[in-house]
Amino acid sequence: MADEPLVLGIETSCDETGVGVVRGTTLLADAIASSVDEHARFGGVVPEVASRAHLEAMVPTIERALKQAGVAASDLDGIAVTAGPGLAGALLVGVSAAKAYAYALGKPLYGVNHLASHICVDQLEHGPLPEPTMALLVSGGHSSLLLAPDITNDVRPMGATIDDAAGEAFDKIARVLDLGFPGGPVIDRLAREGDPKAIAFPRGLTGPRDAAYDFSFSGLKTSVARWIEAKRSAGEEVPVRDVAASFQEAVVDVLTRKAVRACKDEGVDHLMIGGGVAANSRLRALAQERCERAGIRLRVPRPGLCTDNGAMVAALGAEMVARGRAASDWDLSADSSLPVTEPHVPGTGHGHTHDHDHVHEMSKDNLYS
Ligand code: KG4
Ligand code: ZN
Repeated sequence: MADEPLVLGIETSCDETGVGVVRGTTLLADAIASSVDEHARFGGVVPEVASRAHLEAMVPTIERALKQAGVAASDLDGIAVTAGPGLAGALLVGVSAAKAYAYALGKPLYGVNHLASHICVDQLEHGPLPEPTMALLVSGGHSSLLLAPDITNDVRPMGATIDDAAGEAFDKIARVLDLGFPGGPVIDRLAREGDPKAIAFPRGLTGPRDAAYDFSFSGLKTSVARWIEAKRSAGEEVPVRDVAASFQEAVVDVLTRKAVRACKDEGVDHLMIGGGVAANSRLRALAQERCERAGIRLRVPRPGLCTDNGAMVAALGAEMVARGRAASDWDLSADSSLPVTEPHVPGTGHGHTHDHDHVHEMSKDNLYS
């Protein structure tokens, strides 16, 4: 079991109830239930709606994942769960479920970081991560450049967005264009038929005195919205495909430029791109082109593993077990702003999962005292 732990991972940080099962770096199951349709008419994820949907989907999704993997819950070497960052109420459903299963089965519990999971998932597709790994993480809630010498306990922020996340910018522009939610996939699709050079939208934080690895998308967002508004008020038709392509180009140009620069500056010869926006076809193509030119090897998981899923949590959990990292305590809590520098939430050793009977006693004490 040491090198190839069998781990079940639970992800509920946003609107996807994801449950994955992995053996070491091999993906066995990736079950998902999404509440995205319930949020579409609000143009964004409604936390209370997401929490309720997680609650309803949790047990069936766990059962589906175990069945898909063809393993019994009793065979598991551990249960991993996203402890943060994410929506507090949504995270709480996953953490509570993970605790209940781990406790009932007598398995160690691993509260892990959502962002580190987005990086670690690539092990399921391209094998063990090189150390250190440079990672560009781009999702609906985060945009950051991270240097990870060890994904289980050493993740260092190089830079991050100072305002909107990249995915958030896609979602907001899609809303202005009345394209629905989430915006990324539809903008990606329309942009393929548009001209990325049609409109010269601004590239945030790319001046000589700007922070080399930080991002800013709020100026771009405003500029695109104003451009569209000007067309509309002049009674002209908005060239949706060209706007989508030009906006997308501005985002991926900055992301790839800064990521390649960070690799060069740090002497890292490979780059990993993860998070929902990594599913973007233009980002993948431009990153490939620029990495090749710079002699950098690019690793991007397939789109289904880039967006939120349970397999990524299981992948990081398995790595924690394989490297002998401390399991979390039973009082593990959801932390909506868990820092990226904490890949997991190690326990203190008190009330440790291996000590099942002792914990049982303890919790009874707590209950009656
Ligand atoms: O990682 P993720 O599933 O959830 C978060 O942790 O945020 O990322 C969701 C984000 C959304 O903003 C969505 O619009 C964006 O990823 N996204 C895309 C694409 N697919 C999803 N953005 C650009 N192009 C895509 N193909
Ligand atoms: Zn995510």
